[in-house]
Amino acid sequence: MTLSSVLDVSPPPPAAGSGIVAHGLARSFGPVHAVRDVSLTAPAGTVTALVGPNGSGKTTLMLLLATLLRPDAGSVAVAGVDATADPQEARRHLGWMPDTLGVWESLTCHDILTSLGRLYGMGRVAAAARADEQLEWVELTEFARRPARVLSRGQQQRLSLARATVHRPAVLLLDEPANGLDPTSRIRLRDDLRAMAAAGTAVLVSSHVLAELEEMSDRAVFVREGATVSTQDFAAAGAQTRPYRIAGPDPARRDELVHALAAHGLLPGADAGNRRDGVVVQVRGEQAAAELLADLVRDGVPVSHFAPEGSRLENAYLDLDLDHRRHTEGERP
Ligand SMILES: Nc1ncnc2c1ncn2[C@@H]1O[C@H](COP(=O)(O)OP(=O)(O)OP(=O)(O)O)[C@@H](O)[C@H]1O
Ligand SMILES: [Mg+2]
Repeated sequence: MTLSSVLDVSPPPPAAGSGIVAHGLARSFGPVHAVRDVSLTAPAGTVTALVGPNGSGKTTLMLLLATLLRPDAGSVAVAGVDATADPQEARRHLGWMPDTLGVWESLTCHDILTSLGRLYGMGRVAAAARADEQLEWVELTEFARRPARVLSRGQQQRLSLARATVHRPAVLLLDEPANGLDPTSRIRLRDDLRAMAAAGTAVLVSSHVLAELEEMSDRAVFVREGATVSTQDFAAAGAQTRPYRIAGPDPARRDELVHALAAHGLLPGADAGNRRDGVVVQVRGEQAAAELLADLVRDGVPVSHFAPEGSRLENAYLDLDLDHRRHTEGERP
């Protein structure tokens, strides 16, 4: 069964402009200011990436958004519902996939999903049918009657996704969902999250694998030391200058490539790597990249590799210098 067939029977997608809107969130644990000042939106119909170094407050923030922690300050609206004033109502619209499954391990996979469905107000028969549907979707049908503790890490992650979406939430929060997934499962997760966004769901996802996060996201929110520092919209980022690595099949003809690029006013960076790796040049946006590639091909310069170097998220992450520890470590006596 495809996800779209599951979503076909879902309620109408949430109205545009819903999703998550958070303002000035703060939450401390004793002296630790885990979240100091976070404002963000995760609009319906998009996948928003939550990016930040270890300990920057991502999980705490997600728990605040999921109404599982109360903020010391600030507000959260979930699908238009004030989550601080009415967490019960907000939870009906929320799906939450934590970074560890934490299931009732002695229950079977089917019982876990059925119990969840019942908690969300489904009748017994409807909840059982929904559990079957979800298990089929995440390809765990063969484990339906087995206790969740027998699942591998990747299978637990998939059960966790099935659990988070049992009630077809308008807002889906996922904390490191790709952890423990093999490459095929990661691609599936990406496709599933894209499909949910296409159906109108607001998806907020954290991960440390930035290249992968970029593939599945429309935009990114960066956090550092408990505060939002930047938001990037990938649709608009196509016009930005970024490094491209260009290489031909024959390293001996690298000079030819360099000359052709020089004719376009492009000079390779100093750290272009060895000859086999080709050259790295700064290209002003995707349109300029397309024109450059067309020119190289027209001029008979053989090109076997032509791609942005690193992911946008990785570049933005490094540019923002999110990881404060890198500065402070050298300052220790
Ligand atoms: N329940 C808690 N009690 C005390 N301190 C906590 C608690 N939860 C989180 N913290 C602290 O708050 C800070 C932010 O933690 P959080 O787990 O939100 O970070 P994170 O960005 O999710 O990190 P990671 O990338 O490692 O998952 C850390 O310094 C952490 O030690
Ligand atoms: Mg975390």
